[in-house]
Amino acid sequence: MPEEKSFHMTPDEFRRYGHAVVDWIADYHSRIESFPVVSQVKPGEVRASLPAHAPAHGEPFEALLKDVERLILPGVTHWQSPNFFAYFPCNASGPGILGDLLSSGLGVQGMLWSTSPACTELETHVLDWLVPMLELPEKFLSSSTGGGVIQDTASSSSLCALLAARERATNYTSNQKGCAGRSVAYASTQTHSSLEKAAMISGIGVSNLRLIEVDETFAMRPDALARRVEADKRAGLVPCFVCATMGTTSSNAMDPIAEIGKVCRQHHLWLHVDAAMSGTAALCPEFRHLQNGVELADSYSFNPHKWMFTNFDCNCFWVADRKALIHTLSILPEYLRNQATESGAVIDYRDWHIQLGRRFRSLKLWFVIRHYGVEGLQYHIREHVRLAQQFAGWVRDDSRFELAAPAPLNLVCFRHKGGDEVNQTIMDRLNRSGDLFLTHTKLNGKLTLRLCVGQTNTQERHVARAWERICEEANRLAQ
Ligand SMILES: Cc1ncc(COP(=O)(O)O)c(C=O)c1O
Repeated sequence: MPEEKSFHMTPDEFRRYGHAVVDWIADYHSRIESFPVVSQVKPGEVRASLPAHAPAHGEPFEALLKDVERLILPGVTHWQSPNFFAYFPCNASGPGILGDLLSSGLGVQGMLWSTSPACTELETHVLDWLVPMLELPEKFLSSSTGGGVIQDTASSSSLCALLAARERATNYTSNQKGCAGRSVAYASTQTHSSLEKAAMISGIGVSNLRLIEVDETFAMRPDALARRVEADKRAGLVPCFVCATMGTTSSNAMDPIAEIGKVCRQHHLWLHVDAAMSGTAALCPEFRHLQNGVELADSYSFNPHKWMFTNFDCNCFWVADRKALIHTLSILPEYLRNQATESGAVIDYRDWHIQLGRRFRSLKLWFVIRHYGVEGLQYHIREHVRLAQQFAGWVRDDSRFELAAPAPLNLVCFRHKGGDEVNQTIMDRLNRSGDLFLTHTKLNGKLTLRLCVGQTNTQERHVARAWERICEEANRLAQ
């Protein structure tokens, strides 16, 4: 019999090219410091280098890999460079990458327990592991009233929390009837912008998202929150949700979760804790005081894809009362009905987030935790904090610079005392040089530089070199 015609990659080709891709990735990581951290292409340059039309005929795989090197790499900003100090990190690791590759290789879609039991059960199990690892409350365990789920991002988790809060406060009627404009949510002026988006999407409305003032450390003021909630209640509105942040994006401010939690308890408000980057610090007992009061939270999320060596995307989201979340997001069309679901003995994660389909993300998280062990994770987190604190000390000791906010962990907000223009010039020159990547924020109206230590391979020499380069640029400006 003649072979059936096929354009597919054969298993042998897959093996050969797969090895080549893994080799390419390993080589990329070993030469990553030779690239400018920030891509230096101009807008449109990458597209202009690509053919206008898709190929009519398949091309050899070697040509694809060559074009990654030739056309794509110049347009890449190297998030995995140890000289990447911008934003918050989005770090990765060998076990994380390989777990992700296996997830692609298995290619399962775990919307229901029955569509791949291991996809659901490994996820539940790993999220249960993380509860004691981070000393989160036991109510978040799947064996208790709650449970955890992997979402794509912290933004999605905040949206799910807000939706569940809105439903709970309206006795589960707003999904049916819509939101009558009376539900109110609270965050601080420093809360991540994803909360504003969640207010838009959830129907709460941005004008019903109160941005509570902060203290001199940029942390939410619980007294101001309490006053605002009481005023809204007096006005006949229905307060339903508060987002407290463990480590704000702008300056890593720590909202006082315990005091905020008390206000939430008093007024029966859903408390969501967004610990996107800094939640990882709770792996180390000495940093857990930053999450004091987390036992009062109705939901909590952090991103292993930021600081816990797990490739993007991986956000862990826990709720204290899974029924509230499932009641909010569950919908069961005929074509998804199955015996396992009907039995009530399984978790169907499609009910725990916005989308239906889902990847096998727990594999990479499982690989990371098993590869490093708690000890290894703690070691690297402590090292990052130590390096950031050392950097903060250098800033403190240099009379040209000042710290712009407390630095409780691995983010240092600082500025040159010469003013906004000087800081902007220093940052632009550093970033253009390709030697490192820093980003900025505004604190108290002043342009502030941010240096975040969190890339997997950042070591003391990288942070020392960053400070040296900052000082060089400051000296150049002084001349
Ligand atoms: C505190 C905080 N919340 C939410 C986010 C949004 O993260 P994601 O990209 O996972 O939605 C960030 C991003 O930096 C963050 O710092």
